[in-house]
Amino acid sequence: MSVKFLLDGDLVEIAECDPTGTLLEYLRGPLRRTGTKEGCAEGDCGACTVLVGELGGDQVQWRAVNACIAFLPMLHGKALMTVESLARGGALNPLQSCMAANGSSQCGFCTPGFVMSLHGRAIGALGSELPVADVIAGNLCRCTGYGPILEAGETVSRLVQDDSGLAQALAGLADDGSGTFEGRQWFAPRSLQALADILAAHPDARIVAGATDVGLWVTKGLRDLQTVVFIGDVADLKGVEETSEGLRIGAGVRYAQAHAAMARLHPDLGELVRRIGGLQVRSSATVCGNIANGSPIGDGPPALIALGAELTLRSAAGRRTMPLADYFLDYGKQDRQPGEFVESVFVPRPAAGTVVHISKLSRRFDSDISAVLGAFALTVEGGMITAARVAFGGMAATPRRAKGCEAALVGKPLVEATIAAAAEALRADFQPLTDVRGTSAYRIEAASALLWRLWHREQGTGVCVLDVEAC
Ligand code: FAD
Ligand code: FES
Ligand code: FES
Repeated sequence: MSVKFLLDGDLVEIAECDPTGTLLEYLRGPLRRTGTKEGCAEGDCGACTVLVGELGGDQVQWRAVNACIAFLPMLHGKALMTVESLARGGALNPLQSCMAANGSSQCGFCTPGFVMSLHGRAIGALGSELPVADVIAGNLCRCTGYGPILEAGETVSRLVQDDSGLAQALAGLADDGSGTFEGRQWFAPRSLQALADILAAHPDARIVAGATDVGLWVTKGLRDLQTVVFIGDVADLKGVEETSEGLRIGAGVRYAQAHAAMARLHPDLGELVRRIGGLQVRSSATVCGNIANGSPIGDGPPALIALGAELTLRSAAGRRTMPLADYFLDYGKQDRQPGEFVESVFVPRPAAGTVVHISKLSRRFDSDISAVLGAFALTVEGGMITAARVAFGGMAATPRRAKGCEAALVGKPLVEATIAAAAEALRADFQPLTDVRGTSAYRIEAASALLWRLWHREQGTGVCVLDVEAC
């Protein structure tokens, strides 16, 4: 077995590789495509942005990817464009020419990454409906300033690229990407049954979906992963089912793919997704990976807990479903048995009359991890709160419901005095840590302030107690 992909339409075949070596290492090493830069090696700066294409029906669907945290075998069966793909024959492409003419580059280190993000938007890659500023939120420049880069992106906003030949070539690369590389096993099943069977036989294997968490364990944590099961090629996990009851999101669905449907479920959820990493991160990161990772500061879990989400786990023995809140047992410990995997998450559509409010506080607005995330879903009937689900991230060892606050809300009228009592009760729900993102005292103040934010929004007063995203 070898890793096969198409670079500018030409087949690249790699018989031996470190299965957790990154695409960036391969590009800059053996391929000598050094236009793709290494800035942070942890998905933050966008200097390593490349475009990865895969077949969706008979079309090639492109997405921007941080090559520094993508494992090389994840590229099997896909197409790749790097910055060198654009200026063929020595002539810059229209976007590059515009960037050069517009003074959009100084030292130039970040420029290939910006060019690839903007080129992706121009050719209709995943997330290309977003404003230019959102598309480049995951690219950092420390010397030019963003104005001229934004202008170039606005000026060259559509480019035509004929991918018909590439689509045909990709169709011929549809074989299973599993293999043994340097004595380590890489599984890339294509069906649910095959995935369940592999995990039954290898219960200790590390599941990888988008690798936006796992990639860092290797690049920064220097972890050695012996057996990996990559779930990104399992067709049955790639669906987003949108019905009048709610949204079912398969474990292979990336945030950028679910973004529009999540925004339709509730605008606050859409806004939250817009702030999860940059577009490159969201174009790899799965919604279910965000859950399965079990981080106390993951953004999806508290929001989905407040909305009453249910998680479906699957193994060779069958399926089981649980309220999402019950999945998180303790720090780093989730209710997942050996051989099990997360199959999907179901998010019910909020009933009419439900007040939903989701607020993320982070030190930087874009592309930053939460200090505190508060999510509220209050059912209000005839002015009375008849049910309340309140969940927080960043306040405890796991994403968790605020039971005291909920009790102070239920059965009470939605009036200022109720909010004041619930905000007070909330202070006793958590004993948060002090860390680089905020002190314990800040977090307690911030959590209460987020409940007040809900109140002011409901009142239309537009006054936020905590309008500054900082500690
Ligand atoms: P992976 O990295 O592939 O896996 C994560 C964990 O989940 C691993 O333990 C893996 O074994 C397990 N896993 C994955 N899928 C399954 C499954 N189906 N069944 C069982 N286990 C599974 N997160 C936020 O919440 N907010 C942010 O703003 C944010 N910003 C980020 C910015 C950067 C630069 C980076 C690199 C990451 C950021 N993250 C953020 C974290 C990360 O992107 C998310 O947690 C992401 O959703 C993880 O999904 P993934 O598919 O990449 O998971
Ligand atoms: Fe910074 Fe990849 S090198 S995102
Ligand atoms: Fe120097 Fe952007 S031009 S970092």
